[in-house]
Amino acid sequence: MLSRVARRAFSSTAANPYKVTVLGAGGGIGQPLSLLLKLNHKVTDLRLYDLKGAKGVATDLSHIPTNSVVKGFSPDEPDGLSNALKGTDMVLIPAGVPRKPGMTRDDLFAINASIVHDLAVAAAESAPNAAILVISNPVNSTVPIVAQVLKSKGVYNPKKLFGVTTLDSIRASRFISEVENTDPTQERVNVIGGHSGITIIPLISQTTHKLMSDDKKQELIHRIQFGGDEVVKAKNGAGSATLSMAHAGAKFANAVLSGFKGERDVIEPSFVDSPLFKSEGIDFFASPVTLGPDGIEKIHPIGELSSQEEEMLEKCKETLKKNIEKGVSFVASK
Ligand code: NAD
Ligand code: LMR
Repeated sequence: MLSRVARRAFSSTAANPYKVTVLGAGGGIGQPLSLLLKLNHKVTDLRLYDLKGAKGVATDLSHIPTNSVVKGFSPDEPDGLSNALKGTDMVLIPAGVPRKPGMTRDDLFAINASIVHDLAVAAAESAPNAAILVISNPVNSTVPIVAQVLKSKGVYNPKKLFGVTTLDSIRASRFISEVENTDPTQERVNVIGGHSGITIIPLISQTTHKLMSDDKKQELIHRIQFGGDEVVKAKNGAGSATLSMAHAGAKFANAVLSGFKGERDVIEPSFVDSPLFKSEGIDFFASPVTLGPDGIEKIHPIGELSSQEEEMLEKCKETLKKNIEKGVSFVASK
């Protein structure tokens, strides 16, 4: 006979049978992200795909006694990618190259645009109803690439395409707690815009710390905007953030699955197809979104900004517009 705990675990799993696919699962982000997804009880079927190493990672994770089956897929087997995608509910894409010191995220476009494009084609063909969570940089351009591919295949659902910007929010919580000497788990900072340098806008005026001195605030904003560079520099050529990103990706994936499951008031920021600045030609923008059974339920307005934040927003929009156009033109040129 099952114990009470075992029965509870079994019934919660049976009620939430989500299939999740990680493309790029053998990489620096992919491996710890897959581990965290293996530990998520909302996931019952975990498929790992990479050009190399996904089968090994899958076998390793498959020994963990949680209620999910893990399987690795490789391009060396017939239909490896399409089998990893078929019928899945959610696709996470951390496939691609990371930065080295001295590079911008936009410098990754030359390699990552094609990788993300090809994976989006496969997702459109084999998992047309899945939510797609794009981690590969430059997110400001790779998300529009996925959107254009899905549109060209007639399966674009803007409610189910997400650029993962959670790392900016978790950095903001951590860094603000360090300067204000508070509990980081209780800090919430709305971070809007995009995911690169000056397109990352932390709205300090909307926190309880709005009276922070200007110097301190400037330094904090800069650190949040360039937190990625801090890690790239510290890793000294060995890549960019992987572990904090795996945590951020798993947190966002869990929020999307919670929305699917019908939990109420699941709100996370994400870079999405957004009405907020469409009239200015900016089709994608990061802001908090409510997640529901069909994906995005509501895109929240950005709220009131300080005059400094308004200025930051104007600069962000200029860069974002170019980044988005770059992704759109790339797919058009294919
Ligand atoms: P990594 O090099 O360690 O891993 C990338 C993996 O992708 C490798 O295992 C590689 O084999 C795989 N890959 C490459 N092409 C592929 C393809 N066509 N199909 C399947 N797999 C493929 O890099 P990483 O540190 O894990 O970073 C991955 C990406 O995530 C980079 O572009 C990085 O800039 C980005 N990133 C984004 C955020 C964010 O906040 N959104 C944060 C950190 C890193
Ligand atoms: C990050 O913010 O850490 C990622 O986008 C990786 C990078 O290149 O900085």
